[in-house]
Amino acid sequence: MSRIKDSSVEEIKAAANIVDVVGARTQLRKVGGRYTGRCPFHEERTPSFSLSPDKGLYYCFGCAAKGDLITFVRETEQLDFTGAIEWLADRFHVQVEYEESSGREDERRRRRERLVSLLEQATVFYERHLWESPGGGPAREYLVGRGLHEEVCREFRLGLAPGGSTLVTKALEQGFSREELASAGLAGRRGSDYFSGRLLFPLADARGRVLGFQARRLREDDPLRAKYVNSPESDLFRKGDLLYGLDRARGAIAKQERALVVEGNTDVLALRQAGVEPVVASMGTALTERQLKELARTTRRIFLCFDGDQAGEAATLRGMDLAAAQGLDVRIVPLPPGQDPADMAERFEDVLGGAVSYLVYRVRLELDRAADRQEGFVRVRELLGRFEESPERQDAARLAADRLDLPREMQAGLVPRGPGSVTGTVSAKALDAGLRRERDALAACMAYPELRPLLAELAPEHFDEESHRRLRAHLLDGEPAGDDLVGLRAELDARGASGALDVRTGRELLLRLRERWLLRELASADLGRMKELQTALGKIREAFLH
Ligand code: CTP
Ligand code: MN
Repeated sequence: MSRIKDSSVEEIKAAANIVDVVGARTQLRKVGGRYTGRCPFHEERTPSFSLSPDKGLYYCFGCAAKGDLITFVRETEQLDFTGAIEWLADRFHVQVEYEESSGREDERRRRRERLVSLLEQATVFYERHLWESPGGGPAREYLVGRGLHEEVCREFRLGLAPGGSTLVTKALEQGFSREELASAGLAGRRGSDYFSGRLLFPLADARGRVLGFQARRLREDDPLRAKYVNSPESDLFRKGDLLYGLDRARGAIAKQERALVVEGNTDVLALRQAGVEPVVASMGTALTERQLKELARTTRRIFLCFDGDQAGEAATLRGMDLAAAQGLDVRIVPLPPGQDPADMAERFEDVLGGAVSYLVYRVRLELDRAADRQEGFVRVRELLGRFEESPERQDAARLAADRLDLPREMQAGLVPRGPGSVTGTVSAKALDAGLRRERDALAACMAYPELRPLLAELAPEHFDEESHRRLRAHLLDGEPAGDDLVGLRAELDARGASGALDVRTGRELLLRLRERWLLRELASADLGRMKELQTALGKIREAFLH
């Protein structure tokens, strides 16, 4: 990827309007100098999202989403920095300029763009063939037979491959080369169309760019035996990087804060048609790390829906282990054996009601697999020992204790005392309170410039958190606030403007920080210094009274 010129980034930032961009995602209402609205990052009834048009910063009091225009575009459109800048440039009609990049890199980018454009044109070509040609009749009937309506099939851009050399010929006419056709996975070794007589499911990345296809067998006399044929793997297309339907489901996943992972492409369509939207398909294989990373960018809560026959299979287990290991909140939805989600689309919310936590699911499985109680005990203890304390772990331990019929005194042995013991939690809480005080003091200083002289009396050491020290320097000396301070500034800006802090409170908080520092110093001071510190402390306590 080549770098966008800094001047270009500045130009785009200046041209873009944060109110327009956010306003397209949620309805904003002007209140004083700010805007409020329902948060686009989580489901809510009453507005807790707050935006400062002047500073270009937003913060949600409900879910703590925060940042500036670029963060907003990155998160809502799932883009990296460069992608977000390009997206904004497009939206606000600014020409992006790139740093002089090596000729090689430029060429790679151009080539990739051409392949993506070829795949897009092929998608349109296959769609037309399905819906507009007489040859598409049987495939359309097949879809009707499966209860999939035209609307949802069009939404997912299903297509039909005529076969022969129809696509190749067309693409050559359009100026694409044979080499490009082969690289895009659209032509076979002998130079004719790669897909023939099959129903095509385009596989797109999270931005909706089609990178390859899965082709389902339609006819008995199909020379290829496999039910699905995939585009060949290449630099551009890696099936293991993609989740079927993610580009369509992303909005709903973010809003509902959950993703449902099913196995089959057709299940995604059937559920979508029944109004269940945050659904993607793993496409029949174990979930990969890349797929999970992609999902985790939008939600931490995933429901894995598996056919009851396969739910215990190694590949399935590997996928859920990987997801749990990544810290995702994983729930398992075992379906009745032999049934697809598509078979129960209409009552799928009920089915989801039967979900169990990953740990409960694993504990059941370990117990089922153990030869005797002794082995069950060991297996479960080993499993639970790998996880921190949580309500899910308690549930799982209780379940195991029941099933193993453990006497009371042995139940505790199932869950080793690990991280998160009582003392750990308490000190974490105390720490939080201190940091919260630092934050609120800074928020007040942002909202009330008259507090700045008081802030100037504090040294960097009065703040424990490094980012708070840097924000202090930024407020006092105008030191540039780096990109990594954006989130903090956005949050404190909104807090300061929320009315929860008045000047008086701000002043008190600043005094408290000085008091805290003096008390700490006192603890290790020699006699001479102690006197000095005590005098200072006395003054501060005096000041509280005014
Ligand atoms: N799959 C695959 N290759 C196969 C079989 C399946 O890549 N030979 C993938 C497909 O992505 C498929 C998913 O695994 O969607 C689930 O498989 P299955 O349930 O058999 O397919 P469905 O898509 O549900 O197809 P159908 O219901 O039409 O049989
Ligand atoms: Mn199926």
